[in-house]
Amino acid sequence: MMLKDKVAIVTGARQGIGLGIALALAKEGCNIIVSDIDQGDCNSVAEKISKEEGVKALGVKCDVSKKEEVDALVEKTMHEFGRLDILVNNAGVYPFIPFDKMQESDWDKVMNVNLKSIFLTSQASARVMQPGGKIVNISSIASLVGFEGLVHYCASKGGINGMIRALALELAPRKINVNAVAPGAIETPGASGGTEEMKQQTIAMIPAKRYGQPEDIANAVVFLASDKADYITGQVLVVDGGWTIK
Ligand SMILES: NC(=O)c1ccc[n+]([C@@H]2O[C@H](COP(=O)([O-])OP(=O)(O)OC[C@H]3O[C@@H](n4cnc5c(N)ncnc54)[C@H](O)[C@@H]3O)[C@@H](O)[C@H]2O)c1
Repeated sequence: MMLKDKVAIVTGARQGIGLGIALALAKEGCNIIVSDIDQGDCNSVAEKISKEEGVKALGVKCDVSKKEEVDALVEKTMHEFGRLDILVNNAGVYPFIPFDKMQESDWDKVMNVNLKSIFLTSQASARVMQPGGKIVNISSIASLVGFEGLVHYCASKGGINGMIRALALELAPRKINVNAVAPGAIETPGASGGTEEMKQQTIAMIPAKRYGQPEDIANAVVFLASDKADYITGQVLVVDGGWTIK
């Protein structure tokens, strides 16, 4: 799939979907910058990846909502690896809050971490990216259908879908593709709350009759990050076991 020796940044990569993506890209021979908010966790994941997959992996702390940390992440990548081929914008938060209780600070936090971050990381990365580069964003089916308690989150993920179409146009002349994957219900530490009954109700709504695993999302990301997806840009690929087709 021609991912060998490419260099990929994955944000929010210490656990859940981001960890699955980092592992899957490393299995294809990609060198990985493991980025998240805790340096120690990033280091442990990077160590595990380089030991298990024999690629170069580096842990870099980065709060994706802060411009100076994002700029430092890309600078460090260029300093250590000399190139950047793939950016996976995975970091995200999804705190459930009823709309009438939602504070301005709740709105700002979700927008900054889920959407502004993608402006910051994509701009800093696109400036140094190779032709053939790929930006893959983790959106959500919440960008397509509504979820109660997630007004801010649905807005942030809808924002990603709109943003990637415009960015894909601007980056097309430089042969950089911009796409998104929209996961359904995926089993991760962040999504582990809720009762057994709620889980069964969710499974009942999914035609595939199971939660997705981080690998289900990672498989789609690996494809969109590869040369097999050279003619695909500005698209949102839904990976939800069929939840939203009904
Ligand atoms: N799990 C699901 O069902 C599901 C469904 C649709 C979309 N998603 C999206 O997938 C992505 C990953 O979700 P997950 O379920 O693996 O979540 P998770 O909470 O298990 O992991 C998210 C990671 O992002 C990191 N993070 C949070 N704020 C950050 C910041 N400011 N800077 C850098 N890193 C930060 C966290 O530390 C964490 O390691 C998110 O964008 C989420 O919206 C998840």
